[in-house]
Amino acid sequence: MSTAATEHLDVAHGGIPAGKEHIYAQAPVLSARNLVITFGRVVGLDGVDLDLYPGEILAVIGDNGAGKSTLIKCLTGAYVPDSGTITMNGQPVSFRKPQDARDAGIETVYQQLAVIPALDIASNLYLGREERRKGPLGSVLRMLDKKGMEHRAGESVQNLGIQTIQNMGQAVETLSGGQRQAVAVARAAAFGSRVVVLDEPTAALGVKESGMVLDMVKQLRDKGLSVILISHNMPHVWEVADRIHIQRLGGRAGVITPETHDMGEGVAIMTGAKKLAAPA
Ligand SMILES: Nc1ncnc2c1ncn2[C@@H]1O[C@H](COP(=O)(O)OP(=O)(O)OP(=O)(O)O)[C@@H](O)[C@H]1O
Ligand SMILES: [Mg+2]
Repeated sequence: MSTAATEHLDVAHGGIPAGKEHIYAQAPVLSARNLVITFGRVVGLDGVDLDLYPGEILAVIGDNGAGKSTLIKCLTGAYVPDSGTITMNGQPVSFRKPQDARDAGIETVYQQLAVIPALDIASNLYLGREERRKGPLGSVLRMLDKKGMEHRAGESVQNLGIQTIQNMGQAVETLSGGQRQAVAVARAAAFGSRVVVLDEPTAALGVKESGMVLDMVKQLRDKGLSVILISHNMPHVWEVADRIHIQRLGGRAGVITPETHDMGEGVAIMTGAKKLAAPA
C-alpha cells in the first residue's frame, strides 16, 4: 500500500476528530510503514502502518493475538521488525533495544510488568536513570542522590494529581493496582518523553482506579504528549481516544474515531464481521 493511499485511509475512514484539525495539520510524531515481523511460521505483523500525531491519544484495539503488543514492541525497540520503516518527526529511526526508543523520547509501560514491586516509588521512577550526588560523592563514590530523587518523584506524582500516594519511600508492592499503574504513568511522564505507550494499563483495575489512570492519560495528552493506548475495554477507548487503530490478524483493518463509529461498529471491524468501506 502506498504512503499516499495510507494517509488517505487514515483520514477517510474516521475523518479528523472535530475541533482538532490543527493537530492533524502537523506531521506525525511517530510513523510506521509496512512493518513486518514473523516468529518462525507465525506472522506477528503483516505490513502494518501507524501514524501518531502530536497531542493525540491513539487507541489500538483488536482481538487476542491480533498483533497489538507486537506492534508496540516493534515501535519501542523491544522487537526489531523484519522489514518496514519507522520515523520520528520525519527522521528514520532504528531501535535495537528499548533504551534506544527511550532515549528518543518514547516511554513504554509494557503489558506484563510495569513496575518492580519490591522497590520504593522513587526508585521505580528513576529505574535506569538513577541520579548521583553532586561532586566527588557522586562522581567518585557513585553515591545516589536518594533525597533528590524522592523529592522530584514526589513532584512528578503531584503534577499528575495522584494525591492518594503519600510517601515516595513506600514500596510499590504496598500500593493498590491503580496506584502502581499511576507510578508507571508518572515514570513515563516525568522524563520529557514525547510519546507514551501503554499496553492494557487498566486491565486489572477497578472502576475508580481505571478512572484515575484514564484521567492521567488525558493529562498527558493535554500536556502535548502523544499516547498510544492498547485496551480491550471499549468504553474506556471510546471515552478517551482521539482516533482508534484497529488491528486484525496481524494487519491494520482501519482507523476510526469515536465520533464516526460507535463501539458496536468498532468491534464488528475488529472481528471481521464488518469491513470498512474503501477510501473514496
Ligand atoms: N516472541 C514471540 N514468539 C512467537 N510468537 C509470538 C511472539 N510474540 C508474539 N507472537 C505471536 O504474534 C501474534 C500476536 O501476538 P500479540 O502479543 O501481539 O497479540 P495481542 O494483540 O497483543 O494480544 P492480547 O490481546 O492477547 O494481548 C500471536 O500469534 C503471538 O503468538
Ligand atoms: Mg497484548
